Amino acid sequence: MKIRLENLTKKFPNRSKKGGPDVVAVDNFNFEIPDGKLIGLLGPSGCGKSTALNLISGLEIPTSGRIFFDDEDVTDVAAENRGIGLVFQNYALYPHLSVLKNITFPLENLKGNKKLSKERMVDKAYEAARLVQIEELMERKPSELSGGQQQRVAIARALVKRPRVLLLDEPLSNLDARLRLQTREEIRRIQRETGITTIFVTHDQEEAMSISDLIVVMKSGKIQQIDKPQTVYDDPKNLFVAKFLGTPAINVFVGAIKHGRIYIGDDPVMPVKGVENRAIYAGIRPEGFIPDEQGGLKCRLKGVEVMGRDTSILSTHYAQEGEIIRSIIDSEDAMQLSTVNEALDRKTNAVFDPIHEKDNKRGEIRFSVKPRKIFIFDRETEERIFFSTN
Ligand SMILES: Nc1ncnc2c1ncn2[C@@H]1O[C@H](COP(=O)(O)OP(=O)(O)OP(=O)(O)O)[C@@H](O)[C@H]1O
Ligand SMILES: [Mg+2]
Repeated sequence: MKIRLENLTKKFPNRSKKGGPDVVAVDNFNFEIPDGKLIGLLGPSGCGKSTALNLISGLEIPTSGRIFFDDEDVTDVAAENRGIGLVFQNYALYPHLSVLKNITFPLENLKGNKKLSKERMVDKAYEAARLVQIEELMERKPSELSGGQQQRVAIARALVKRPRVLLLDEPLSNLDARLRLQTREEIRRIQRETGITTIFVTHDQEEAMSISDLIVVMKSGKIQQIDKPQTVYDDPKNLFVAKFLGTPAINVFVGAIKHGRIYIGDDPVMPVKGVENRAIYAGIRPEGFIPDEQGGLKCRLKGVEVMGRDTSILSTHYAQEGEIIRSIIDSEDAMQLSTVNEALDRKTNAVFDPIHEKDNKRGEIRFSVKPRKIFIFDRETEERIFFSTN
């Protein structure tokens, strides 16, 4: 089932003691979630993810705007009649009930011709339990389960009514790193198997990238970008999106366009076509740096971390934002570089090496930049500026 949001807005009265304007938790959302896809709703804490999800589920009433499930307007339909399955961060299982009873719970209150016999309920519970692979835990109480198992029970409970939409609000954040990985793959598998349109809320960009068909990036109640994960990474619409996605994070510099050339500080980095002279931020992905003695970007080497296949070069530049520039290059290429070898010989693995701090010349490392890995943004609006290189 597809979900369509039309001018969807939710305002809350300002709760601060001094008063102030309303908080616009969801600001005029207009988009369509295609049928059978998994959508990652991604953004920092407080940006309105849960509010957006709660509007779709019916737990919150919108201030204005409409919500459609396929062509049905569900804006005024009560949550329990929308055909949704909900999973929260804290599982919200009933501690005194067995796993089986927890899963059948949503079926107990069905009325009229939807009412099910006991056997039917148990059958359905086992069906859902099989999907999340917890059939052997049905007689236990929630307190006798691990966090990951509890979360699977919560997912089974959300699935038992065969919802039209599955809504998951940070379902993995209470799990340790390994379980989180495992469970997110599980969620992906279940979603594929059932084909239920699913919205997955997270503030973890890696989680969103790995699990989603489409990512909706939010900031302060506003949509920043909706695209496939790879597109959001390769083609960010603004500086916020560029900074929010990617580990290690993108390296940001203060720069300018002067006479058809990108400058970072006073360093000419790359010719560009079709952009007027202006103040910019330049963002370079870690994998966008090419160590190059003729390169325009002159940085100071601060350390080298060899990590097997890749080598991470830490450097600084006076026009950078943030503490350190992190560039990642192939280890085999890195070993060809005399600067890198010298640094390793001198055991300058530490960041902010005082030897290099004094030693200007020897500490220099120059880069050229891969054209598809550098993005430029208007310094005022922080919107992306598109350019061509040929
Ligand atoms: N019931 C409420 N009354 C007043 N303000 C609220 C209410 N619920 C949420 N807000 C405000 O709306 C904004 C969005 O909150 P929301 O819970 O949707 O954010 P979130 O993206 O889910 O954050 P997190 O990642 O921390 O869960 C916040 O500024 C929050 O303080
Ligand atoms: Mg939230």
